[in-house]
Amino acid sequence: MKPGRVTTQSLRAAKAAGQKIAMLTAYDASFARLLDDAGVDILLVGDSLGMVVCGHDTTLPVTLDDMIYHCRAVARGAKRAQVVGDMPFMTYQASIEQGMLAAGRLMQEGGCHAVKLEGGAQHAELVRRLVGAGIPVMGHIGLLPQSVHQMGGFRVQGREQGGRDRLLSDAHALVDAGAYSLVLEGIPHEIATDITAAIPIPTIGIGAGPNCDGQVLVIYDLLGMDESFKPKFVRRFAAVGQAIKDAASAYVAAVQDGSFPNAAESFSLGEQKPSPADASAVYSSPANKP
Ligand code: KIV
Repeated sequence: MKPGRVTTQSLRAAKAAGQKIAMLTAYDASFARLLDDAGVDILLVGDSLGMVVCGHDTTLPVTLDDMIYHCRAVARGAKRAQVVGDMPFMTYQASIEQGMLAAGRLMQEGGCHAVKLEGGAQHAELVRRLVGAGIPVMGHIGLLPQSVHQMGGFRVQGREQGGRDRLLSDAHALVDAGAYSLVLEGIPHEIATDITAAIPIPTIGIGAGPNCDGQVLVIYDLLGMDESFKPKFVRRFAAVGQAIKDAASAYVAAVQDGSFPNAAESFSLGEQKPSPADASAVYSSPANKP
């Protein structure tokens, strides 16, 4: 992909050139900075934050204000990646006007470059209106976490009779409405392959096999933050959950045995100050903020 900010155009060009797109979720500025530095193309501020950050069982309790708060943080940390904000449950299902206003807030207050919403043909008109208002839209079909109760759980979609045709027609409806990319979640890889070949915009898969134009994972899953959660489609690229527990245990032990902080980690009355300007500096960050 070309240097500079990732855009809807550069993503489409990546698909045309056969370059795979790497997307991850991010929920705060620190993660956004690290993932951006690592070359992640798209940072999705997913409403999955309701589950992995806030501890809910589903994404349904996440509000628009929650999303805006986290989008602002991620937007501050991302220099190159495109920042996409999820439209949370019931901010676009009741009416087109409601969806327009919610997406507008994600862009204006959240600092997103695009929004994502779940569902196919039933949201085509909203997608058309958003795109007409200058708001890029990423679609999301297949397993729809906001419809978990309707689906009877987080289940693979599209295996039923007519499932492939339904998903293909949803994909085409979103393309025709102007969506610039499409998340394919929890569907058989054969269907994801067919959709990817049939449409001109990039498909980003999660539990949709290797033939999508890109892949997305929830960052906490990739990092192995929750040892009890390992669905088939997740690959753990690290064991950060265990590393955090080990670090915290070592900290507890050092506090309890008095070895933390040591002399080098403490201030003293006689200490030499580097310069008058730094006389009260405690932190070495550019802002020297406590
Ligand atoms: O909310 C989210 O993190 C998502 C991804 C799983 C695609 O929608």
